[in-house]
Amino acid sequence: MHPDLQKILLTEDQIRSRVTQVAQEVDKALAGKRPLAVGILKGSIIFYADFIRCLTMPLELDFMAVSSYGSGSASSGNLKIRKDLDTDIRGRDVIVIEDIIDSGFTLACLKKLLTERGASSVTIVTLLDKHERRTHDIAPDYNCFEIPDEFVVGYGLDYDERYRSLPYIGILKRSVYEK
Ligand code: IMP
Ligand code: MG
Repeated sequence: MHPDLQKILLTEDQIRSRVTQVAQEVDKALAGKRPLAVGILKGSIIFYADFIRCLTMPLELDFMAVSSYGSGSASSGNLKIRKDLDTDIRGRDVIVIEDIIDSGFTLACLKKLLTERGASSVTIVTLLDKHERRTHDIAPDYNCFEIPDEFVVGYGLDYDERYRSLPYIGILKRSVYEK
């Protein structure tokens, strides 16, 4: 285990089997469609890559990068689009693939935006849900794991751009971000 971690929350095996299970549910639900899989950069990239490989319908890929203003381990402020989609989503079935839903601010803003742009459906898939911290009225359509209110890293998730390449998900020691 990485020395900056307090403990491993989800192992590689746990992640693999649950991601496969959820992707198979989405695959059934959207069978016969030609969806656009939108990955939210950068945190979702590893989840995204594992998830889309379980989908069997014809699929197109695109990405967005967004950030809330401010930094630190609690998200705050306004949503800023740092990289927009290349695809016109009018009439498309969009699958939004995100690493974690925390306050719900990011996904609430994104869902509104994609709906206003004329998507015919928006399906939100999250790897992790910190449901205790929700302040916006939004729930993912599919979520892999509910987690406690702890700051987690690995499998794409970062703290200050570090730890994304860890193959498991762990709770970061408070001493790392409280100094
Ligand atoms: P929300 O807008 O409050 O729902 O925040 C979602 C975003 O906050 C995610 O896309 C992550 O970038 C970030 N985030 C929230 N909690 C964590 C965490 O425990 N580890 C890493 N990033 C997190
Ligand atoms: Mg993110």
